[in-house]
Amino acid sequence: MLEEIEEKIRNCRRCELWKFKTNYVPGEGNPNAKIVFVGEAPGREEDRQGRPFVGNAGKYLTEVMERFGLRREDVFITNVLKCRPPNNRDPKPEEIEACKPFLIEQLNAIKPDVIVCLGRHSAKTIFELFGIDFPGISKVRGKIFEVERWGKKVKVVAVYHPAAVLYRPQLKDTFEKDFAKVMDLAKRKEVRDTTLSDFF
Ligand code: URA
Repeated sequence: MLEEIEEKIRNCRRCELWKFKTNYVPGEGNPNAKIVFVGEAPGREEDRQGRPFVGNAGKYLTEVMERFGLRREDVFITNVLKCRPPNNRDPKPEEIEACKPFLIEQLNAIKPDVIVCLGRHSAKTIFELFGIDFPGISKVRGKIFEVERWGKKVKVVAVYHPAAVLYRPQLKDTFEKDFAKVMDLAKRKEVRDTTLSDFF
């Protein structure tokens, strides 16, 4: 299922970004993940490798995840946009609209218990998708929202973007505390699976 979506992404020309990219970055991880992390768009290193969150922001994200006993292979990591915008500029609304169906398909295939939005573009897109009001990242970060999806209660949490944290180290403490909340959610019985429970 995820492979089919990936195949569609690799043939996508729904917006102009395919012309500028080196590689599509569909996302990677556990197809049965209980937690899905959604970033904004691939950066330079992600574009080069075709993998999400493998540059400096990704290294920091991976380090924080591992500190909480979570491996990248346990979760699914993707972005709102699957192609890198030139010079890492902000995604355009029409690019988000064009690419969003892939993200929706990925979420529908995985049916996670927890969705973690990394940064404001991701949070805005996901919150809109789930009908949650989005007054801004600093207002919603660290708060746990619950929506009904896939016949169960799904938690949606936004945190600052790890790249923003690297750029503004004063956000580190907040980011890591918010992350601890995410891990708390993951540890709860209802969102545990065999993969995760090995680590808690
Ligand atoms: N920033 C993102 O939003 N996504 C990535 O994959 C890398 C950096």
